[in-house]
Amino acid sequence: MAEHDHQKILILDFGGQYSQLIARRVRECHVYSEVKPFSISEEEIKAFQPSGIIFSGGPGSVYNENSPHPAEEIYKLGIPILGICYGCQLLAQRFGGEVVPAKESIAREYGKTLTWFDNHCELFSGIPKECVTWMSHGDVISIVPQGFASAASSAACPTACIYDERRRLYGVQFHPEVTHTEYGMDILRNFLLKICCCTGDWTMAEFRQKTVKGLREKIGDGKVLLALSGGVDSSVAAALLSEAVGDALICVFVDHGLLRKNEAEEIEEAFSHKELTFLKVDARRRFLTRLARINTPERKRKIIGTEFIRIFEEKAKQIGKVDFLAQGTIYPDVIESGQGNSAVIKSHHNVGGLPSVVDFREIIEPLRILFKDEVRELGIELGLPETLVNRQPFPGPGLAIRIIGEVSQKKLKMVQEADAIFREEMDRAGCSNAVNQYFAALTNMRSVGVMGDGRTYEYAIVLRCVNTEDFMTAEWTRLPYDLLERVSSRIVNEVEGVNRVLYDITSKPPGTVEFE
Ligand code: XMP
Repeated sequence: MAEHDHQKILILDFGGQYSQLIARRVRECHVYSEVKPFSISEEEIKAFQPSGIIFSGGPGSVYNENSPHPAEEIYKLGIPILGICYGCQLLAQRFGGEVVPAKESIAREYGKTLTWFDNHCELFSGIPKECVTWMSHGDVISIVPQGFASAASSAACPTACIYDERRRLYGVQFHPEVTHTEYGMDILRNFLLKICCCTGDWTMAEFRQKTVKGLREKIGDGKVLLALSGGVDSSVAAALLSEAVGDALICVFVDHGLLRKNEAEEIEEAFSHKELTFLKVDARRRFLTRLARINTPERKRKIIGTEFIRIFEEKAKQIGKVDFLAQGTIYPDVIESGQGNSAVIKSHHNVGGLPSVVDFREIIEPLRILFKDEVRELGIELGLPETLVNRQPFPGPGLAIRIIGEVSQKKLKMVQEADAIFREEMDRAGCSNAVNQYFAALTNMRSVGVMGDGRTYEYAIVLRCVNTEDFMTAEWTRLPYDLLERVSSRIVNEVEGVNRVLYDITSKPPGTVEFE
């Protein structure tokens, strides 16, 4: 694979809800970063060769017996460290300061907080002396460790930053990665560029060049099968692999029957004219049979993931001499499918949904370290059209996870028709481009309604629409009521089996974008 020999920042995850966000923000500063569990060993840290380390926040309290701590040797490596929230308290405790639960004298803080800065500290160089930060903590530093100074404060928190310039150790009680912190990006940039001396060498042009070289070396004169779904990620992966190995790439599109209305035909139309070997497999019946009587989200995801792989294995045997299977897995898929200490939210079918035994020499995931916006940037870099690169995401398990509970042909048709109406009306109202993802899902709830003069007892469709930067957090979109009304009225009138339409007003967290 590509030799990612650029400067790197290691983010140690102590269970904080913003660890991934920190990684994104660092990459926005053109510095490569990865999130790893806090418990990784000294050897692993050294092997990663970080130019700087960031300790994330976390729900624990450093004074509790089982609270998470990093490998002790980390403090002896001479690498600059920035601790955020819990990470800041870790530094305070480790170097002899004191961390205590917030009481009345020093209150807990949550939300936007006016904060004062000492610009002599390099972390705050160039930012105003007074601005708003985002605080979210129940513990506070009551004694600053020896050798450290305090460089920020708020009304409730006299020590909102500790630092030791000599040892290049910095801790902030607030969250610079959250957009509510004014100048948060400047603070992170100061840490990366001034304190860790990074140059900002992480660009998509460089990633492309190195990855193409790495792919050529790895694949040699072998063949690669790419699981092409027509979505952004697998299309960008196709373009990258095509540049790397040309004819040795075979794109296989599996029509599992769980796609949106007319989508299979559209994908075939879009890709069969390209200079790519494109094969379509009609597996609609096969997937429906395997999903019969399956009700739980994780079981559905695993079954779909396994079935996909079996189909690719079969295709590979027919073609012959295929050593590699390539997928468009991206970094959030990897993170949300659970790595190290973080919880498994969902088994994204191209990661956690994979069967344990896969009959390929290797699975290649050239986008595995990229965030969605980086994938889009790479797509543009590779010359893909903006319409394709900016498509809204569609999950690998497709409509199976937009039908709550058991999947059937009848339910598939309901959700396809409702979704097509929603899309049509969104386009007509000129709303499609202003939102990041929207779709219809079918609930497993039936309720009583009245149509004409008769009683109905039918299913409810739920509409979901979100705005998000990275799909890791998302806010429900305030769609115009008259648009929602038109969609609702059309769905109830035109889709057989549906008598009620709901609109989801849950953000992520606490919801997720998809329902399963
Ligand atoms: P959630 O539901 O986890 O979704 O908030 C976040 C984003 O990921 C998409 N998604 C998936 N994409 N395979 C994928 O390729 C999957 O299994 C999968 N599950 C969710 C979802 O549509 C949203 O954009």
